[in-house]
Amino acid sequence: MDAIDMIKERRSVRKYRDEKVDRKTMEEIVEISRWAPSWANTQIARYTLVDDKQVIAKLATDGVQGFAYNINTLKNAHGVAVLSFVKGKSGRLDKYGDLDSSNAHFWEAFDAGIACQTFCLAAHAKGVGTCIFGVIDDDAIAEIVGLPEGETVAALIVYGYEDGHPEPTPRKPVKDILRFI
Ligand SMILES: Cc1cc2nc3c(=O)[nH]c(=O)nc-3n(C[C@H](O)[C@H](O)[C@H](O)COP(=O)(O)O)c2cc1C
Repeated sequence: MDAIDMIKERRSVRKYRDEKVDRKTMEEIVEISRWAPSWANTQIARYTLVDDKQVIAKLATDGVQGFAYNINTLKNAHGVAVLSFVKGKSGRLDKYGDLDSSNAHFWEAFDAGIACQTFCLAAHAKGVGTCIFGVIDDDAIAEIVGLPEGETVAALIVYGYEDGHPEPTPRKPVKDILRFI
């Protein structure tokens, strides 16, 4: 698939067919996602893929702050990626002296964001729809999936085969977001 089409055609998918994505396909998507750039190539993103219906139901009841919109999406989902990151690495340049800036947390989230978009695009290229959830309870999710010590949950990414491709969502015109100097 052409990269430009891929970027433009990817949509947030909230309605899924009653069909699981097999683990091999998901492993291929993570294999592509790991090519995302990261601070000093620290590669802090981690992907915990949940395809167990009971655990997904638990994520719906306890992991999305009771946000009905997200609960509804999870009701018809067969897969959820818990995107997490290893803390304390990104945003640092120890070998160049003390550059632990107050921005360290920012770069961790930045890396996770790049990993997130890469995952969504890789999934789209493989015919798998996704929806990023930011309305989440990160501590509750960490507990539900038994996240390793030293990691923080960045986002949930619901995934599955879409039930109808969503309509394009509006974008600001280029003139409103671009400046040349
Ligand atoms: C950081 C972030 C958090 C988001 N959180 C949610 C969410 O909690 N629930 C949801 O349904 N969509 C969520 N979205 C999806 C956005 O609503 C969506 O990307 C936006 O409306 C543009 O639509 P599109 O993805 O179809 O192009 C989130 C997207 C991002 C990037």
